[in-house]
Amino acid sequence: MEKLDLIFKNGKIVTESGVENCDLGISDGQISAIGDLSDNAEVIEDATDLLILPGGVDAHVHIDQPSGPDVEMADNFQSATMSAAAGGNTTVLPFAMQEKGQSLRECVENYHKKAKDNLYIDTSFHLIISDPSPQVLGQELPALARDGYTSFKVFMTYDDLVLNDEELLKVFEVAKKEKTLVMVHAEGYDAIRYLTKKLEEEGKVAPYFHGISRPQIVEREATHRAISHAQIVDIPIVIVHVSGNEALSQIKWAKEKGIRVFSETCPQYICLTEDDMKGLNMDFEGAKYVCSPPPRDLESQKAIWEGIIDGTFDIFSSDHCPFKFKDKKGKDRPGARTSFKWVPNGIPGVETRLPILFSEGVSKKRISLERFVELTSTNPAKMYGLHPQKGSIKIGSDADLTIWDPNKIDTIRQSDLHHGSDYTPFEGIEVRGWPIQTWLRGQKIYEKNKFLKQNNLGQYISRGFSSL
Ligand code: URP
Ligand code: ZN
Ligand code: ZN
Repeated sequence: MEKLDLIFKNGKIVTESGVENCDLGISDGQISAIGDLSDNAEVIEDATDLLILPGGVDAHVHIDQPSGPDVEMADNFQSATMSAAAGGNTTVLPFAMQEKGQSLRECVENYHKKAKDNLYIDTSFHLIISDPSPQVLGQELPALARDGYTSFKVFMTYDDLVLNDEELLKVFEVAKKEKTLVMVHAEGYDAIRYLTKKLEEEGKVAPYFHGISRPQIVEREATHRAISHAQIVDIPIVIVHVSGNEALSQIKWAKEKGIRVFSETCPQYICLTEDDMKGLNMDFEGAKYVCSPPPRDLESQKAIWEGIIDGTFDIFSSDHCPFKFKDKKGKDRPGARTSFKWVPNGIPGVETRLPILFSEGVSKKRISLERFVELTSTNPAKMYGLHPQKGSIKIGSDADLTIWDPNKIDTIRQSDLHHGSDYTPFEGIEVRGWPIQTWLRGQKIYEKNKFLKQNNLGQYISRGFSSL
């Protein structure tokens, strides 16, 4: 047998379908041998007592997106992908967000400029459609879909992004023609506006009221509406960032009827609750937890776990959307303290997604190692047309690996993280299980708080169609 570049010995290889004690061989950046291998390689890595996982694929992150007047996201492509690598990820899927009136092609080109030479790990873009003009629907979107931008997100809320029902249906129609996958942010715009206005009139403006302004019923209604529209057009959709039992009940209902609905949940819905937005005695600390949909209650956390365990959820993403807390261009900018309405929605989490699910799920014996890999790597890769290049440990797949210490106990601390935010909403959570090395296409890029490769090793990946 030809000499391999690298062999991992004595590790436990975990895939979505099993756990095996055997050696893993790498050549030319790809997985080339699995089994009992002789020491015929340039480099031998000992993985005794460690797990070898396919690198994390985080299918929902926001990087360097315009976020409203005077607001700045805390991460650019360099810091976000650095943070993702330290958290055991080898691929991220951020959004190229169309601004109203903007050409979609120009939007995508701008994001490529921002990402170029700034990627620690591999990256591919979803599109956000905020202006479905005839030009966008008739020409730009179909052309981009054929160029490998095979998923796009639509919003049912937010002033700058919301689409009305007819617009949603028209976007769905393009997705049907082009066989692309639509991700839906399901929260009802008018109901949120109505509730926000009432709360403000009553002087209820602290961050806690962000949650009251977008209760589960608002998410449940929009989830059902999105599913109905998808059924009318006859396309599959993904309901992203599902927060609680109400929206989940609609997804379960649809799945039972045979309607093709995929779903995603995130760490905030198993670790945080609405009470976190109270801060210390209803103060502005609560802004650190403001995201949409907001964290719910303990009953909802239980329902989300049920969905993770019973297979209702297909993927587990971070929805990393980082802002600074103490920064005049972040959460605490002038005006934000006057109403929760002005606090930018989103929290950081790309680096803590895998340790949180591993610790709460695998270490606490709620889910198997295989299910962990399925939710965090294999299914995201399949869902968004990256599999089998990404998301699995198979001959011919990219050698994107996370070497995981299942027994390492650590406490999540902002001071240890690499993102651009100045806080983590998961501060102080103790976890068992931590990624200790990250390998991208056969090259070690991160080990124990050290980045071993620079920020130009990550590549842009053009995608195929969903295979989930
Ligand atoms: O609060 C959130 N999730 N902000 C990010 C944007 C989105 O809707 O995913
Ligand atoms: Zn969203
Ligand atoms: Zn998001």
